Order: sequence, then structure tokens, then C-alpha cells
Amino acid sequence: MADIGALEHLLKPVQALTPDVSIDEVARRFLLDEHRAFLSLPVVDAVQRPCGLISRYRLQDIFMRRFGRELWGTQPVSKVMNPAPLVLQLGTPFETAAAQVTTRLQYPVTEDFILVDGAGRYRGLGTVPHLLKAMEARLLQRNQALQHTLEDLKQSQAQLVQSEKMASLGQMVAGIAHELNTPLGYVGNNVDLLRELSAPLFALNEALAHLSAYLGDPATDEEALAHALEAADAARRAVDAGTLAEDFRQLLEDTDYGLRQISELVGGLKDFSRLDRAPSDDVDLNDCVRAALLIARNNLKGRVEVRQQLQALPPLRCAPSQINQVLLNLLNNAAQAMDGSGIILIKSWADEAQVHLSVEDNGKGMTPEVLERIFDPFFTTKPVGEGTGLGLSISYRIVRDHGGTIRVASRPGRGTRFLITLPLRRAADAAEAGAAPAAPLQREIEHA
Ligand SMILES: Nc1ncnc2c1ncn2[C@@H]1O[C@H](COP(=O)(O)OP(=O)(O)O)[C@@H](O)[C@H]1O
Ligand SMILES: [Mg+2]
Repeated sequence: MADIGALEHLLKPVQALTPDVSIDEVARRFLLDEHRAFLSLPVVDAVQRPCGLISRYRLQDIFMRRFGRELWGTQPVSKVMNPAPLVLQLGTPFETAAAQVTTRLQYPVTEDFILVDGAGRYRGLGTVPHLLKAMEARLLQRNQALQHTLEDLKQSQAQLVQSEKMASLGQMVAGIAHELNTPLGYVGNNVDLLRELSAPLFALNEALAHLSAYLGDPATDEEALAHALEAADAARRAVDAGTLAEDFRQLLEDTDYGLRQISELVGGLKDFSRLDRAPSDDVDLNDCVRAALLIARNNLKGRVEVRQQLQALPPLRCAPSQINQVLLNLLNNAAQAMDGSGIILIKSWADEAQVHLSVEDNGKGMTPEVLERIFDPFFTTKPVGEGTGLGLSISYRIVRDHGGTIRVASRPGRGTRFLITLPLRRAADAAEAGAAPAAPLQREIEHA
């Protein structure tokens, strides 16, 4: 693509005047076709250096005066020219040139500008309309480049958001796999045991079948019958009906329990992702809390005690999978803020207009400097591989998209509390219903 920004592009090789050319002659030149497009004509000295510029405007001014033509017509142009026209070197950066032209030239524009080479010798004229056109084209080019950059940025942002999602998904899957392992393990063991324990029952069944075949056959001899009887009795003795029944009951009960746990976990997973199918649903936020806790359980188990104070909540129109992502990140952050063990307290409550949810931990807390930056994309205090620094910036965006606010208070060494407030009616819904629009969004950071 041609470099629209180069001054060469604007150069018009207009023949220059010498200082001794008469004013009448100048007027005649202005009438020439080749000079029609120019407001002014350049004047150069013997070594081709520009020494002035004469404009149509100036000529008109002279000739309109009383006796102007008679008095001035034969005078040299040097008498009336502008001795300090705007001169630009061809190599001047386009932006600088444009800035000089626009500040120096008068409004209305009455002159063109002179272009010289590196040695200061006259090369031609440039006109303001051409300059404006070139600037416009250049802006357009810039705009397109910016547009591309913006699109690239958007794309990489989307990728990053995706990778944070994948990271928490990975954590989640690892957690769930771990959770599933325990019940799967003992359900498997129980099945093995049941198989072992049921073997004598099958043997007994077989012995009894034999016996009954002999009994039903009139040709059976005494000795064979006695054998069959003995075998059946031995098989019966091998089965301790009392303990066996108790063992079976116990094993089946355990297996049942394990299967229930498995299906609870799978149900939780479904709850967690159900929502992608219905991006906006009426949801009980407490269900989201429970789903997120189930998913985060493996990360929390053993070292973190979770206390829940969940009050009954009205249904909330939201994208639950997104809200779950926010909760999961808050829970993981809280767990990561603890050296060793700690407590996470989750509270939820509602008023007429809003649902509130707070997640509080007694972890290491944050300094005011950290607190200021936690919602910034990529801000993390965690080692590579542990933190992407995107969790809270994504959470912030999700909560904002829901018309809500996210606030945080923290004290180093004491702990941190995040408070999420979501409106029951979104601004748009409220407008539909004729109610007042919700208060403007704001991001609030409190220092405890
Ligand atoms: N509960 C918390 N306690 C202490 N610091 C926290 C807590 N939650 C977030 N932070 C701080 O905020 C930073 C940004 O969090 P986040 O955006 O989730 O990214 P990441 O967890 O990947 O670092 C964390 O690195 C941490 O310094
Ligand atoms: Mg995080």
C-alpha cells in the first residue's frame, strides 16, 4: 500500500517565479490552466531557494484598490509577496508537517505551502485540500489498524477467559475424580465380597438340585441317594445362614450408600453445568453455593471447615453456571489464602430488592496495596501454575453483567470477606415493569 503519509505524495511541481517578475505577469500566470488549482505561486532566488509566496488573495487586494493596477502592475513581485511563506522539507514526518501547516496557515486558507529538498532548494507546492485528504486517508488506515488490534485483543481476551475457565474446570475435574474414587473403591470391594460370599449358596443350590433329581427318580439306588444327602448336608453346613444374611445386609447397605454418593456427585456436576443450557434461569442462589461446595470439596476437605448460614432466598434470574464460576473462585481463593487449616463462612440473605452473599475466610488477608489490584486482569500473588490472576477480574465482570456489585474487605493476618450483591430485578426488567432503574454500577473496595 502506498505510504499516504509521505510529503512527496503531496508535491505539485509548479514553476516558480523570480523576484523581479512583474505583478501584472503574476496575474497572467494565475490565469494559466496549470495554475488554476493553486492559491499562490512560489518565488525563488537565483539558487532556487524559496524567498517568497504571492497569493491570489494578495493580488486581488492590490488590484481592487484605487489605481492599484496602474500603481503596482509594473512593480516586481518581491515588493508585495509574503517574504516568509511556510516552507517544509520533503523529509519532514507527515504528522509534524500537518501540524505546522494547520497552525501556520491562516483561516480562511489563502496560501499553499512550499516544499524543498534536503538542500533547501525549491521542489514544488503543496495544497491544503490535498493535505487534508491525505490526513483523512491516513486516519482511515490507522483506524483500520486499530480495529484489527482491537479484534486481536478481544480474541486473546476470550482465549484467556477460556483458559481460566479450563484451569478451574481442571481443578474441578480432579476434585470430582478424587471424590468419586472413594465410593467407587468400596462399592467395587463390596461386589467382590458379595461374589465370594455367595459362592457357597450356589454350591448348596447345586447339591439340592442333585438331591431332588435322585428323589424324583424311582430307579435311584440307596447308596447314590445317601451320597447326595450327605453332599447336600455338607453344602448346607458350609453356609452359616445367620452371619451370611447379616453380611449381605451390611454389604448391600454400604453399596447402596456408595452408589447414592456417586449419584449425588454426578447430580452436583449436572447442576453445575445444567445452566449453560439455560443461560438465564430462575435460580436459588443457595443451590449454587451447594453445587460449588460439592465441586470444591476436594480442595477444602480435611483442612478447611466450611460453615454455612444460608437463609431462604427468592429465585434469582441469573446465569447460574457463571455465578457458580464466581463462587468456585471465591472458595478456591479462600482455601489458597490459608496456611494449614482455617474456616470459611458462607452467608446468604435477601431483602426486597437484592440477594446478598458473603464468603469470609480467616486466611492470611491482603495488604491495601494488594487489595487495590485484585480485580485487575493478571494480577496474582501466586506462583506460576497456581494462579492466573484472572479469577477475580472475570468474577467482577460476571457480577457486573448481572447488574450487581462485588465488595471486599480484608485485613492482613486476619482474613478476607467478599460480599456479592445481586439485584432481584435487572435494570431492563425494572424498566419493563415501569419501576425506577437500578442504581448505577460501581466497583467498591473497602478497607477494613
Ligand atoms: N480470600 C483471599 N485472601 C487473600 N488474598 C486473596 C483472596 N482472594 C484473592 N486474593 C488475592 O487476589 C489475587 C487475585 O485473585 P484471582 O483474580 O482469583 O487470581 P489468582 O487466584 O489466580 O491469583 C490473588 O493472587 C490473591 O493475592
Ligand atoms: Mg483465583
